[in-house]
Amino acid sequence: MKTSLKLVLIFFFVSGTIVNHSQVIPEKIISARVDSVLSLMTLEEKIGQLNQFSYGSGWGPAVKVQISSQYHEMIKEGKIGSFLNATGAELTYELQKIAVSESRLKIPILFGYDVIHGFKTIFPVPLAEASSFDPEIVEMSARYQALESSSAGIHWTFAPMVDIARDPRWGRIVEGSGEDSYLGSVMSSARVRGFQGDLSNDNIISCAKHFAAYGGAEGGRDYNSVDISERTLRDVYLPPFKSALDAGAETIMASFNEISGVPSSGNKFLLTDILRNEWGFKGFVVSDWNSIGEMINHNYSKDLKDAAMISINSGMDMDMESRAFLNHLKELVDENKVYEETIDESVRRILRIKFMLGLFDDPFKYCSKEREQKIVMNDDIQKAALDVAKRSIVLLKNDGSLLPLKKDFKKIAVIGPLAESKEEPLGAWAGFGNPDDVVTVVEGLRKYVSGKTEILYSKGCDIEGGSTDGFDDAIKTANESEVVILCLGESKDMSGEARNRSSLELPGVQQRLAEEIYKTGKPVVVILMNGRPLSVEWIDQNIPAIVEAWFLGIKSGDAIAEVLFGDYNPSGKLPVTFPRSVGQIPIYYNHKNTGRPGNENNHYTSKYLDLPLSSLYPFGYGLSYTRFKISDLKLSSAEISANNNLIIKVKVENTGNYDGEEVVQLYIQDLVASVTRPVKELKGFKKIFLKKGEEKEINFTISEEDLRFTGRENKAISEPGYFKVFVGNDSGNVIESKFELIK
Ligand code: NOJ
Repeated sequence: MKTSLKLVLIFFFVSGTIVNHSQVIPEKIISARVDSVLSLMTLEEKIGQLNQFSYGSGWGPAVKVQISSQYHEMIKEGKIGSFLNATGAELTYELQKIAVSESRLKIPILFGYDVIHGFKTIFPVPLAEASSFDPEIVEMSARYQALESSSAGIHWTFAPMVDIARDPRWGRIVEGSGEDSYLGSVMSSARVRGFQGDLSNDNIISCAKHFAAYGGAEGGRDYNSVDISERTLRDVYLPPFKSALDAGAETIMASFNEISGVPSSGNKFLLTDILRNEWGFKGFVVSDWNSIGEMINHNYSKDLKDAAMISINSGMDMDMESRAFLNHLKELVDENKVYEETIDESVRRILRIKFMLGLFDDPFKYCSKEREQKIVMNDDIQKAALDVAKRSIVLLKNDGSLLPLKKDFKKIAVIGPLAESKEEPLGAWAGFGNPDDVVTVVEGLRKYVSGKTEILYSKGCDIEGGSTDGFDDAIKTANESEVVILCLGESKDMSGEARNRSSLELPGVQQRLAEEIYKTGKPVVVILMNGRPLSVEWIDQNIPAIVEAWFLGIKSGDAIAEVLFGDYNPSGKLPVTFPRSVGQIPIYYNHKNTGRPGNENNHYTSKYLDLPLSSLYPFGYGLSYTRFKISDLKLSSAEISANNNLIIKVKVENTGNYDGEEVVQLYIQDLVASVTRPVKELKGFKKIFLKKGEEKEINFTISEEDLRFTGRENKAISEPGYFKVFVGNDSGNVIESKFELIK
């Protein structure tokens, strides 16, 4: 049959079937369609599908091209399977048009972008969203982010970032859900469900990243080596990836780092043995930016050709920006160093996604300018951004019930370098977020208060730098007011990719500013805005009220005002431990006991001479304007087995003066095992609303599966014996009981 006739028939088959994209297209149909396209492809066209290029600015050392002319030619030649950083209905339409009208096989392009916490409507950074301990809210946030970005031509987000981070020096801690695998897994699946939905027009494909253990970087220095046991890999770092895949994540991004000597982009154990053979992953793996090429710097590949060979043979499907696949795969196939079948498999996986998104049926379905105009920053999305923002706030301290603020103050001083900043609340991955759209704390409070309250503002100092020139004005402003809201923290550029810090203190002279304001004797509320835990011990010891606001996105000031005045009673909990000092790192709640558990009264135990054992604020910690008492811990049985789950009940009472929400947390400890187990592990949580004076019984269920861990043979096992069970308001404030696993 002549190719042109074949093409017509295939495309009739491909697009002639009526497909409703609000329903899932059966895999069998997709697979037949994929094979029909694959059968027409030359080796060069197949290799073409495996390349992804950045259109415009990116985040790494891009290969310089005359963007429009060179890329347009490459699209025509079928050399580009995907772009990142090409956005907007108009541009994506233009590029897609070239692909589907000027390339031989008319295969549509997949457009990816880092929609990490919003596209134009910027939501709270992921670490903040995780503080909500509310998967429904996090799912909703991702759904709105998908809605907005899909209207601007985007098919695919490089999110969720599901890396566990136990070192707050690491700047990318801001992009994830903190230190805990269970919480990380819950948030990971919530985000995948939110982004992908049913893969209709309003959804985008998600990408769980960075596979794997990227957060384990030595010294908290981004891109640095990771050296961990397979057990730690499986128990700590992998669960959120598995959870993303179970929720349907269709792509995975390989990480930059090595694990115990093997860079992820050339790690067959990760990309094939675990991902494909153990987990049955059907989607595709994309490299990180030039991570295939960087295997040369890792001293793992001798040149780009070697890197291409190792990477594709390890299980990589798409090459982001290194050109290793583009320039070397053909030669490698000719030399029998890479099988064409291996390439076919990767092409199949990529085409499968393009079919799933409906791009073969309607390549322009994401590129409608009218839809883009209607959706980007619409009221619903902005409302959602506010809702998520206030639920992401964590109340760290509230002595003397200074908060919520009385509504009859005549003068409130808002002081500090983050009080009037339009830039910083956008956070690390602000997409197309515009500072003009940000509501600052000063603006939020001015909008909120009645005409009888005056909001005074003084910057005091910069975020960084040593100048104290603004102190006098700040002190004067404080003295003129009845209460001070002091906004301190980091700039948005102090966390995120390649933005690591060796100190966790407030930068610049901010602490000195706090000390001066404190001396005025005025009641002070500190609002922290930051992308990582900060060691703010002086603030904790001296300032009566502290609010952790992270970077809350465009609705920052509105959300903070609602919380300060008690229109929203804060309900967030910390997804990560706050160290007292950088010297305590690594410090995380689910550590091991050791043979000499730390004891401040016993010299030969595991501790520091110059620091207490405790953290500044533990994992899961966060206050409310009301109080919650957890009591009456009861187990349905003293035993659990593979056939009998255990029901755990507690009574939760709102004993304070406000209605509010509490996150009731369930932890376990395996008391004796063939490999040592952590002192506590989160196994469940429930966020409940109680009116003041109300009480409720809360149930948790634990199954034998929840008690599994990676045993000596690196397989998931559970072992008979005793377990402690803890229920509480945070990882450090619990009541406990005991049960036995019977086998
Ligand atoms: C590098 C980052 O590590 C990754 O998270 C991101 O998705 C890509 N660049 C693309 O921007």
